Amino acid sequence: MATILVTGGSGFIGRHFCCRALEQGWRVIVLTRHSKAAAKRLPSRVELIEKLSDLDENLRIGVVVNLAGQPLAEGRWTEARKRRFIESRVNSTQQLFDFFSARELKPKVVISGSAIGYYGPGELPVDETAAGSDSFSHDLCRQWEASAAQFESLNCRVCYVRTGIVLGDEGALAKMLPAFKLALGGPMGTGKQWMSWIHIEDMVSLIVHCINCEGLVGAVNATAPNPVTNQQFSKTLGAVLRRPAILPMPAPVVKLLFGEMGEELLLKGQSVLPKKLKDSGFEFKYPNLHSSLSQILD
Ligand SMILES: NC(=O)c1ccc[n+]([C@@H]2O[C@H](COP(=O)([O-])OP(=O)(O)OC[C@H]3O[C@@H](n4cnc5c(N)ncnc54)[C@H](OP(=O)(O)O)[C@@H]3O)[C@@H](O)[C@H]2O)c1
Repeated sequence: MATILVTGGSGFIGRHFCCRALEQGWRVIVLTRHSKAAAKRLPSRVELIEKLSDLDENLRIGVVVNLAGQPLAEGRWTEARKRRFIESRVNSTQQLFDFFSARELKPKVVISGSAIGYYGPGELPVDETAAGSDSFSHDLCRQWEASAAQFESLNCRVCYVRTGIVLGDEGALAKMLPAFKLALGGPMGTGKQWMSWIHIEDMVSLIVHCINCEGLVGAVNATAPNPVTNQQFSKTLGAVLRRPAILPMPAPVVKLLFGEMGEELLLKGQSVLPKKLKDSGFEFKYPNLHSSLSQILD
């Protein structure tokens, strides 16, 4: 039985991944800062540790799934918060690397988090070959990926999952729902900015795919094959909820309410295509937005 170590396993994606990993018959160990809180969110078969040194030195960890990081969309981006976003990802990845460097038994595969923010804002579709353009999100992802890339020196296969907007029972969709349910939702700014999204079930499946697919290495875009504009997203969400979604939030209001976070995450976007997943034979269960939202909200 393979043993997987998950950081950020108590979070939205991590929790769903841990459940799937148990279904696969894998042993799952979650590194968490708060084991009591994590225990409430995870099945009892998931083992919890608060320090890497709690791992038995003879235990072979075959796979590391590294998702831990301070949430980005929980308020205005002050300089102190921006430092925390970076430190919480880069420092915890560095600790993982230092731990496994010193340990005799190395993991075979490391799947490490990243985000489509790597590419910076843009209007043309991009795949994994695109260079990122300058922005805070790009800088954060670049540093996070560079930190995980150190595992290559331990002969590990490393994938960075450049994740889009994950749709499910938590995360961005949960934040949007109250306004849309009250018919107060609508496009933000011009509504022309791209939203590259992915259903949580496909997100979890693609992490499993990255673990199993020997040929996958480096950046892997974790987005559905059909990105939409913000306007299309609002319209589709309104249709699924059977509510009008026509109340726009003008760009100056978004900037006033959310500052730089609003400008980078809400008013700008990118159209990201999952080329490496498709080339490696991954099949999306939810390639279209309407069926994804219907499944989640039913
Ligand atoms: N959800 C999305 O749409 C999306 C999109 C793009 C990228 N991502 C990235 O994918 C990763 C997982 O996403 P998610 O939505 O599952 O995130 P999440 O629900 O916010 O969970 C992240 C986990 O990271 C740990 N964490 C939080 N703050 C931390 C800190 N300051 N230092 C160290 N660990 C901390 C927490 O685990 P403990 O409390 O148990 O320690 C938490 O459960 C994140 O890094 C996120 O940036 C997510």
